[in-house]
Amino acid sequence: HELKMNIEQIEKGGYDHFMLKEIYEQPRAILDTYRGRLRANQGIIKMAGIDEHLEKFLNANRIIIVACGTSWHAGLVAEYIFEDLVRIPVEVEYASEFRYRNPVITDKDVLIAISQSGETADTLAAIKLAKEKGAFVFGVCNVVGSSIARETHAGAYTHAGPEIGVASTKAFTTQITVLTLIALKLAKEKGEFSESKFHEFLSELETIPSKVERALESNPLVEIISNVYKDSSNCLYLGRGYNFPVALEGALKLKEISYIHAEGYPAAEMKHGPIALIDDQMPVFVIATKKGHYEKVVSNIQEIKSRKGKIIAIVTEGDEQVTELADHVIEVPETLESLSPLLTTIPLQLLSYHIAVMRGCNVDQPRNLAKSVTVE
Ligand code: G6P
Repeated sequence: HELKMNIEQIEKGGYDHFMLKEIYEQPRAILDTYRGRLRANQGIIKMAGIDEHLEKFLNANRIIIVACGTSWHAGLVAEYIFEDLVRIPVEVEYASEFRYRNPVITDKDVLIAISQSGETADTLAAIKLAKEKGAFVFGVCNVVGSSIARETHAGAYTHAGPEIGVASTKAFTTQITVLTLIALKLAKEKGEFSESKFHEFLSELETIPSKVERALESNPLVEIISNVYKDSSNCLYLGRGYNFPVALEGALKLKEISYIHAEGYPAAEMKHGPIALIDDQMPVFVIATKKGHYEKVVSNIQEIKSRKGKIIAIVTEGDEQVTELADHVIEVPETLESLSPLLTTIPLQLLSYHIAVMRGCNVDQPRNLAKSVTVE
């Protein structure tokens, strides 16, 4: 027993929990995911799974993304990137809904399945269905040789390394990294991008690991904020555009490991319901980075403030306007709007981690949850 404890401590590499270790591994995991693929000096992205099937992607009528849980949130981020950069229509579906709703699928569709474990039963079933209907099926998995990796026509691995904590962290950011690489590559091939815009993206992507590093420096502040809100019974997460899925993911992380009820919403939807919940007991986490609907988010924040909600905002370094309005702000470095989810998600992961620890929850193995769900 003692030996087992020691081995586990070594595996945690000095961190108290796998989740925290994995949060801190993200700069390296993101780098490992694009290294060898992104060749900024040659101005190309190399991905065998795409290169070999380029025509399938370029001729696709639409891309259907299927996934579950956190992977589904990565799919939502990808929807914004693909439609924005590649100009191919995208649908993002829960695998469990897609498989049972008699979906319209043709041989002009490309289905992208996203799965950390590569074993999720619903995602696997959705793949089989799409294949039967003649779609080209591409996998984005973390576990090499997993069922989904084997069942798909082609794919690209995330190189996150083993993820042990049940709450997914580095798998999420590396999934977004792979999907961003695919979008950039297709945008270039399709002629949607000028050389200079392509280069701007590539070089910005190369700065992300060090910017994630900087976002992680918010940890002591996030811990203080966590202490203020650890006893809340409800929390709201708001974001717009590229950061709407980050709001969903922030809420999911908190639910999963701290058992606090949390909801993620597109900030503008607040007025259609959730605003009724806001009072002086309600912490509202708002992603309010400079690029992407900033002014609109500012007015959403004003609406929360006038109802006495507590505002904790994720802002761009040097922000002034939101900083004046919010109860707490957490800064992340500036980047392109489309890459911002890779940074804004970091403090929200840390926040759920600290709150769960403070509440005495089993962070790495939350109740009722499994790392991979191989049954319906
Ligand atoms: C489980 C895990 C989640 C994960 C989801 C999808 O619910 O607890 O963290 O996001 O399955 O898993 P997958 O392996 O397909 O990404």
